[in-house]
Amino acid sequence: MPASDADISQIAFLESAIEGPDAASSLTLRARRGMFNDGFLVAKVNSRVVGYIETCIWTKKTPEFREDPDFFITEHTVEGAILYIIFVGVDEQQRHNGIGSRLVSRVFEVGQELTTERVHAVSRDPIIPFYKSLGFTAVKQLPGFLPDAQKYTLMEFCLR
Ligand SMILES: CC(C)(COP(=O)(O)OP(=O)(O)OC[C@H]1O[C@@H](n2cnc3c(N)ncnc32)[C@H](O)[C@@H]1OP(=O)(O)O)[C@@H](O)C(=O)NCCC(=O)NCCS
Repeated sequence: MPASDADISQIAFLESAIEGPDAASSLTLRARRGMFNDGFLVAKVNSRVVGYIETCIWTKKTPEFREDPDFFITEHTVEGAILYIIFVGVDEQQRHNGIGSRLVSRVFEVGQELTTERVHAVSRDPIIPFYKSLGFTAVKQLPGFLPDAQKYTLMEFCLR
């Protein structure tokens, strides 16, 4: 379901648990929800947020990342062909129960209802099997996508 404003504090808590010092702030998460609420979804168990997915729509064939918290907001355009997964995260205790897959599958439906042609995500190497299990293919490696030592790959799913 689309995230509500009341969900933001729980989303921020999860984001912080998963991303540590790199976590987006509540302010940024709230702004991204406002940017594209149909593409900002939560999964709940017993009314508690256990997973979320943030997306934007843009025209970039090769994704970029900038530290600027407003980066996705300034790039978002509903006429774009690419539905980009900014982040998908599931509570560590709730993983491998299909929650992440359901969030991404729901995003496919959102993309199909719009005019987007493809869904993109940037995956760290260990997470590639997750995206492959959903039908994504690896397009290319993205050296230097983030300034850490990890390898990143552009993953793509064609909607039409
Ligand atoms: C990636 C993530 C969202 C997956 O959520 P999830 O709810 O556990 O995913 P699912 O249960 O739908 O997994 C479906 C399949 O994907 C694969 N998969 C899922 N997580 C995986 C992982 N961490 N490593 C390798 N394969 C994985 C498995 O084949 C899994 O099937 P299985 O559980 O039967 O083995 C979750 O591990 C997470 O929050 N990770 C930290 C944040 C992150 O890296 N996000 C992605 C970058 S934007």
